[in-house]
Amino acid sequence: MQSFLLEFANLLLRWLHVIAAIAWIGESIYFVMLDNGLKKPKAAEDRDKGVFGEMWAVHGGGFYHNQKYATAPAKLPDDLHWSFWKSYTTWLSGFALFVLLYMANPSFYLVNPSSSWEWAANLSGAEANILALAFLFGGWVVYNELCKRISPNMERDGLLSLAVAVLMVVVAYLSVQLFSGRAAFLLTGAVMATAMSANVFFWIIPGQRRMVAAMKAGETPNPLDGKRGKQRSVHNTYFTLPVVLLMISNHYSFAYNHDYAWVIMSLFIFAGALIRQFFVLMHSGKIQPAYPAAGTALIAVALWVAMPADPGAPAAGDGEGTSMAEVTTIIEERCVQCHAQSPSHASFSSAPAGVAYDSEDQIRRQMSQIKQVVESGYMPLGNMTNMTDEEREAIAAWRE
Ligand code: HEC
Repeated sequence: MQSFLLEFANLLLRWLHVIAAIAWIGESIYFVMLDNGLKKPKAAEDRDKGVFGEMWAVHGGGFYHNQKYATAPAKLPDDLHWSFWKSYTTWLSGFALFVLLYMANPSFYLVNPSSSWEWAANLSGAEANILALAFLFGGWVVYNELCKRISPNMERDGLLSLAVAVLMVVVAYLSVQLFSGRAAFLLTGAVMATAMSANVFFWIIPGQRRMVAAMKAGETPNPLDGKRGKQRSVHNTYFTLPVVLLMISNHYSFAYNHDYAWVIMSLFIFAGALIRQFFVLMHSGKIQPAYPAAGTALIAVALWVAMPADPGAPAAGDGEGTSMAEVTTIIEERCVQCHAQSPSHASFSSAPAGVAYDSEDQIRRQMSQIKQVVESGYMPLGNMTNMTDEEREAIAAWRE
């Protein structure tokens, strides 16, 4: 019953999380489009008012006229629309989901028993939880320090971007050493997403509040607040595509159970940023296909890295191969506790990921998937059922 209720809560939270993220990212993409698509105002009176750019749009049966002021309008209205709840809701629901799914079951989902770092492979569940939190918040601290030290007055943007790119490769590399593949992808995405939300919470919104307060007091706002808000928003823009990819990666074990999972992750992060750059420029009327071409090339490299050695070939061991009866025995011993219509394992109320091995026929139909997850070491999850290397080889040598 408890595992069923947890599953149900998981479903509701995931729903909320995805909706909030759509709203947040949608608004963020909209404002980048608006900002880059502004035209010089046509009416002289608008220019005299201090309007620096405008956009006319038609949407949902109405006509909209957006105007951006170079500094501030002569009088600021009281009912400004602020954007922050979408960001905070996305982060809070995402974090709750992480707690519910990963931190409630750390020895399944966080610990990487095949880590090349022995101490990481032997972490207890509680230690893995602490490490995951330290990783998540540590990522933000390092990113924030990089921004503050390299670019205290919002200069040297290029150098800062380079440093953030290197940081992401380091985060990707560390994540796969410290955590199981699926958690590594998720946590790398969560480090970026936490930086995005923290940018909004600690810098963008407080900066805007200071600017508004200064204007209301008839003072000139500190230009650094505006520039910093812009700098952090720009980072957020390039983070969006990679973050979404990392968040949806959890069904694709070919990517995260690979020896070079961190390389695959890094390639996708840079591909996402490059593809985003195409759209950022497109909104200001510049079409530069080199960006998506470079992004696609990186994805092609990721495909090449992730590709199994020879997917069609019969695996190791010559001669006989493993019989269906032997395979069924192994699966019954090592997998069926979890992978059955009604699992006997207490943590599951239904077949995890919808994968059930109740009959020989079901097992046969899922042959290639079974081989993949067993060979990569992803299953049995956390090797809870102590599958031996001989059994893994037997599965690899199974053919029809
Ligand atoms: C301790 C419980 C447990 C055991 C034992 C276990 N699994 Fe899983 N398995 C899971 C969970 C939980 C998931 C869902 C994880 C996910 O969404 O990636 C899963 C997912 C899968 C998937 C789908 C992967 C995907 O990419 O969506 C396959 C295939 C699979 N398991 C095969 C096996 C095989 C084969 C064995 C035995 C060698 C096995 N499992 C043993 C818990 C288990």
